[in-house]
Amino acid sequence: MKHFLSTEDIGSLPEWIAKGKELTENPKDLRSLGNGKTLCLLFFNNSLRTRLSTQKAAHLLGLEVIVMNFGSEGWNLELTDGTVMEHGAAEHIREAAAVVGVYADLIGVRAFAGLKDRETDKAEGILNGFAAHSGIPVINMESATGHPLQALADALTISGATKKNRPKVVLSWAPHPKALPQAVPNSFVKIMRRMPVDLVVTHPPGYELDVDITGAYTPVYDQRQALEEADFVYVKNWSSVTRYGEVLLRDSTWMMTSEKLGKAQFMHCLPVRRNVVVADEVLDGHQSLVLRQAANRTVAAQLAMMHVLGKS
Ligand code: CP
Repeated sequence: MKHFLSTEDIGSLPEWIAKGKELTENPKDLRSLGNGKTLCLLFFNNSLRTRLSTQKAAHLLGLEVIVMNFGSEGWNLELTDGTVMEHGAAEHIREAAAVVGVYADLIGVRAFAGLKDRETDKAEGILNGFAAHSGIPVINMESATGHPLQALADALTISGATKKNRPKVVLSWAPHPKALPQAVPNSFVKIMRRMPVDLVVTHPPGYELDVDITGAYTPVYDQRQALEEADFVYVKNWSSVTRYGEVLLRDSTWMMTSEKLGKAQFMHCLPVRRNVVVADEVLDGHQSLVLRQAANRTVAAQLAMMHVLGKS
């Protein structure tokens, strides 16, 4: 059985990008691929793009879709085996996952990091619990440590927008009032390592990503130096890994502006806080790729579903 849990589940990235391009440029009627099958989408956290793009992709592949806001409407789930469930959670993930497997043929799961305990988040209890106990393929719609659908959409976007064989791509931290997970930057770094790009990661000291996940990298702490000659600038906030889940800095000089962007194309996964993470002028300007990224989320979801359906 094939899952789509992380960017590692993408076999040949050039082949996936070529297929994505084909889906966009020469759309065919693919509704027979999912005919008679049901996709169940479980949201433990909020969403706009993931929910709509995954549903749209499912319809394009002929799948029936069931959506549940599990975080607000489902039973609290126990994740640990052997627990005496006298208090707290009402249902164990073993039964919950198996029951969803009775109703559906594939599952999408969105379950963010709690940002309280690093090892708990790295264990990916909900995502891996559904993969282990549902008996059907699982698609990661953003988990504690990764957002592979977003990363695939970002790879498709850069591949489609670049004018160079080997563009310079800069991932830049940005300020944010709340503590956000590292899922998006983790998956972005991982997929960029498989692209023909020169990747530079810039953030303030204390915001180093988890190299167990991303692989080793040398951060550039001077944002302006990192941005020199950039072709693509991907802006994202994340909270500290070493002081797990903390906001260490809210320095507004890290916000992306037109002046700092220069001639580069701007990327962000959205949602984004205007004039905190990025200035209006950048989001509203012609160098912004954010809507192309959002459009490519549908293509990424189609590719992931075709993969788990064995139709890729
Ligand atoms: N980029 C992204 O995953 O958007 P949503 O959180 O709105 O789904």
